[in-house]
Amino acid sequence: MPGISQPLVQVIEVHKTYPLGHRSVEALRGVTLEMPQGGFVVLQGPSGSGKTTLLNLVGAIDHPTSGRVLVEGRDMAAWPDDALSHFRAKTLGFIFQNFNLIPVLSAVENIEYPLLLQRVPRAEARARALEMAEGVGLGDSSDQRPGELSGGQCQRVAIGRALVTHPALVIADEPTANLDAATGRTIIDLMHRMRDCTGATFVISTHDPEIASMAEARFTLRDGRLVEP
Ligand SMILES: Nc1ncnc2c1ncn2[C@@H]1O[C@H](COP(=O)(O)OP(=O)(O)OP(=O)(O)O)[C@@H](O)[C@H]1O
Ligand SMILES: [Mg+2]
Repeated sequence: MPGISQPLVQVIEVHKTYPLGHRSVEALRGVTLEMPQGGFVVLQGPSGSGKTTLLNLVGAIDHPTSGRVLVEGRDMAAWPDDALSHFRAKTLGFIFQNFNLIPVLSAVENIEYPLLLQRVPRAEARARALEMAEGVGLGDSSDQRPGELSGGQCQRVAIGRALVTHPALVIADEPTANLDAATGRTIIDLMHRMRDCTGATFVISTHDPEIASMAEARFTLRDGRLVEP
């Protein structure tokens, strides 16, 4: 278990280089930062500055070229795939710009899905998913499919799906990019509320300065380096 004072995420002198034909792209050039447990952290910066690259490293979707990324004090770089999958399912929740919901499942079935993958018994999974649907404000829309929901409602479903497994860390790459400004604010408010009641750490990326200003910790990337906002 991490100690009280240990940050949930530590990024230490991380470089990430992508091969691109005969050239290579230096997406991150020596990034060092910490994310506190229970924090609401925002990554901002212009297009191409390295936000998605950094989130992918924190979520162990990809590994650094050099440097280290620790989550709960653990470096996943050398872990075998099955250990990584287990860690991701247990510790991480992901929220996507395009929601990534399963179109043939209802809202509550989408929220329930990760629990069924974890072999939680059906009745318990359904009860937890219904409670979560209520918690994210879906109300009467729980039985509707994504195609019948607004963008804001779809993102509520995605937030419920990310949180239903009780992750320590929720990673959201531009979660408001496909929403109008007012709906985007509501979704960020909801994430803050869910952070308050679950204690999960949230890290999101955004282009929106107003959303960035709602964060407790803000990191600004430019050309793969951290800069002052
Ligand atoms: N798989 C890849 N192969 C080659 N280059 C990549 C790859 N992924 C990202 N890059 C490059 O790495 C740099 C950082 O990209 P990244 O997607 O992290 O930026 P971003 O800040 O998320 O941008 P945006 O705001 O547009 O989403 C860019 O120059 C991009 O072209
Ligand atoms: Mg991006």
